[in-house]
Amino acid sequence: GHRYTGLIERYRDRLPVHDDTRIISLGEGNTPLIRLNNVPRHIGRDVELYVKFEGLNPTGSFKDRGMTMAVTKAVEEGSKAIICASTGNTSASAAAYAARAGITAFVVIPDGKIAMGKLAQAMMHGSVVIQIEGNFDDGMRLVKQVAESAPATLVNSVNPFRLQGQKTAAFEIVEELGRAPDYHCLPVGNAGNITAHWIGYCELSASSGEHVTEACTFCKGHCRFAGGGVAGQRPTMVGYQASGSAPFLRGAMVDNPETVATAIRIGHPQSWNVAWKVQQESGGWFDECTDQEILAAQKLLTEKEGVFCEPASAASVAGALRDIRTGRIPEGSSVVCTLTGHGLKDPDTAISQAGSAPLKVAAELDAVTRTILDNMG
Ligand code: F0G
Repeated sequence: GHRYTGLIERYRDRLPVHDDTRIISLGEGNTPLIRLNNVPRHIGRDVELYVKFEGLNPTGSFKDRGMTMAVTKAVEEGSKAIICASTGNTSASAAAYAARAGITAFVVIPDGKIAMGKLAQAMMHGSVVIQIEGNFDDGMRLVKQVAESAPATLVNSVNPFRLQGQKTAAFEIVEELGRAPDYHCLPVGNAGNITAHWIGYCELSASSGEHVTEACTFCKGHCRFAGGGVAGQRPTMVGYQASGSAPFLRGAMVDNPETVATAIRIGHPQSWNVAWKVQQESGGWFDECTDQEILAAQKLLTEKEGVFCEPASAASVAGALRDIRTGRIPEGSSVVCTLTGHGLKDPDTAISQAGSAPLKVAAELDAVTRTILDNMG
């Protein structure tokens, strides 16, 4: 039939599942690739600019692509529980897919710095929420140790099935554009997602069944190459970090990461080595964005394009717009920016930077009419 039932069914031949594998899905993937018209005009540059709106996945972030695979495999292997550390989105996704599968999710989150929507999701889906007196990197260190002995499968992106699911975003983009974009820009935290995209693009450009990229060795043998792609059709991968949490810029781990973009408040990226390989193989680069630039890009997208992403996601657009302005990304290029999470995830940050409060008026025709006339264009 034509019913869309999630990315595992869609890309079954390129993912590590068997015919009788029970698929745990919420219909993730198949997200819109939105062409931006107003923003390029606004900055006066002629580029073919798209956003891949991953915030429209079932739990509101790209994590669902990885989680459908990780939870499907955990259940297949007989696991009754999953565990992760998270800045919020992974925990929301893990909680939802665990609920769907009928298993338990343990989620370790940092003290305080988690966006309200994400916490609401983890709590509502019935996961066991463990808030530690520490940051994400502390949580990551702990869950890796715990998972060695505890009967719970680790579903952070160090679980290779996560990246297998996430690589499908690259498949969707190439199908839609008919080729890879010239540049693909992403916000970077642990650098799992930028790596997953590179694996996806490399699989498509591979004409044989062998690993074609060093990054691909990260798949630990789980890749299934489709073959038949066009060699060389791979984008330049560009990763943007928040200035206060930018180990790839510093070339060294950051011990006390800070940023308004709490999703990427990460100082010790898990995919450190492999992400450098992605940068080298693709001829790309890492750069940083200030919190101010991130929030300005978030606002620009909401006001000029009607697209509401969370702050971390806006780092991809903030960075891309700067590189387009300076010419590092030349005019005439096709550029895809991944918007990793939905703006509704973090209502507090949105409201505090929105600028305009609701106009309070009497519940009378005159008052409402006058307010409309006063505020036209
Ligand atoms: N954008 C958002 C909205 C995220 O939630 C994350 C990561 C990233 C970007 C960075 O992706 O780590 O693959 O480079 N969030 C993780 C979490 C850490 O726990 O939700 P990455």
